[in-house]
Amino acid sequence: MLSGPAVPPRAPADQQPQGEDTPLKILVIGSGGREHALVWKLGQSPGVEVHAAPGNPGIAGLAECHPGPDALAVAETLDVDLTVVGPEAPLAQGIVDRFRAAGRRIVGPTARAAALEASKSFAKEIMLKAGIPTARHVTVESAAAALDALKTFPLPVVLKADGLAAGKGVIIAHTAEEAAAAVQQLLSPGARLVIEEFLTGEEVSYIVLSDGRHFVPLEPTQDHKAVLDGDLGPNTGGMGAYCDGRILTAAAQQTILDTVIEPAIHTMGAEGIPFTGFLYAGLMMTADGPKVLEFNARLGDPETQTLMHRMASGFAAPLMAAADGSLAGARLTWKSDPSVCIVLSAYGYPGTPRTGDLITGIDDAPATVFHAGTRRTARGIETAGGRVLGVTASAPGLASAIARGYAAVERIHFDGMHYRRDIGAKGLKRWQ
Ligand code: AMP
Ligand code: GLY
Repeated sequence: MLSGPAVPPRAPADQQPQGEDTPLKILVIGSGGREHALVWKLGQSPGVEVHAAPGNPGIAGLAECHPGPDALAVAETLDVDLTVVGPEAPLAQGIVDRFRAAGRRIVGPTARAAALEASKSFAKEIMLKAGIPTARHVTVESAAAALDALKTFPLPVVLKADGLAAGKGVIIAHTAEEAAAAVQQLLSPGARLVIEEFLTGEEVSYIVLSDGRHFVPLEPTQDHKAVLDGDLGPNTGGMGAYCDGRILTAAAQQTILDTVIEPAIHTMGAEGIPFTGFLYAGLMMTADGPKVLEFNARLGDPETQTLMHRMASGFAAPLMAAADGSLAGARLTWKSDPSVCIVLSAYGYPGTPRTGDLITGIDDAPATVFHAGTRRTARGIETAGGRVLGVTASAPGLASAIARGYAAVERIHFDGMHYRRDIGAKGLKRWQ
């Protein structure tokens, strides 16, 4: 079953004989680095007019930004042709359902389908039904049950809060004491906790765009979730990423498509919850093959910054096709140069970040600087979130892309600025 398009199909943007007077209007929902990268890419397509709600100071240089809480009202006032949702929160709250009910074309999953990300236990149920390889797990609802279940797992063991946690709801416990403390920290009354087996291997972010039945893969990327070099310290929403065609062999990609993506899309459809939008599989490439660590119901950040930098084909047409249920046969093409995104984070992140630090040097940096947590004040651009900027660069060869990115980082300053110095290092080591 496919949730049919609520709007009559229209020819994809790149195939339309559109003049200046009839641009394809696309609204991007969100205010982070991922959304800045989407706006940057979409704005490069001829005949596309990009808007953002609410957007950010970086996006404001490329598109009209529309503040305010009601994105549907913005879409209706502007009469946009297509809306693309960046973050998980509005998806889990049903923005796609509301747009469809109003007859508006939108890329993203319904609230029910977004539960693949919003509920770790739902995701595990779907994986079991679909036979998708993942870590052995137990879902518990009380501390007593958690402590019992922990006895059946070797150390280290992984504990995951069930709801959305911006990448911070996962604790890897190395001792029984740490595990018991993690239960206290993650299990709130009435909530569920997933306890699962610790997997080892390289992590890969594998994202596809789906129309509910068909899907088109994006290039594999690798994120760096821990806040400190060498993957040390607490997890974040992502401290940097790189995108390189060599991250997965063609055979490994095929295995992922056959054992993870196809079964997930098929099973969601069979359950009457077709998945539309971006399905992001966070994978561990174990000795026994790829296993799913998590599903996200959206594009990853900072992965998207590297992906938009490398995408050669236009993005408007496939997004329109995804919203219209006509993605069959679509293909995305990629530049051969690898890309790297280095996240500059604020003092305090991933705890409560300090805001209001003045940022200098953005315009001098010889790279694409995507804004993630910034605001414009009378003084200039200031920090306004945990992940502040995503410095993104491409070059022939991963080593040059990394060097180019870090050279640009050198130009930027704000008090308390932190970044990892080893983004892409795993790739360099693998391919040296
Ligand atoms: P998640 O939000 O479920 O992707 O977890 C966040 C991060 O925790 C992942 O990117 C991994 O680095 C780590 N992680 C999650 N689950 C496991 C697991 N079963 N084994 C090892 N590491 C994990
Ligand atoms: N970079 C991981 C995420 O967006 O969840």
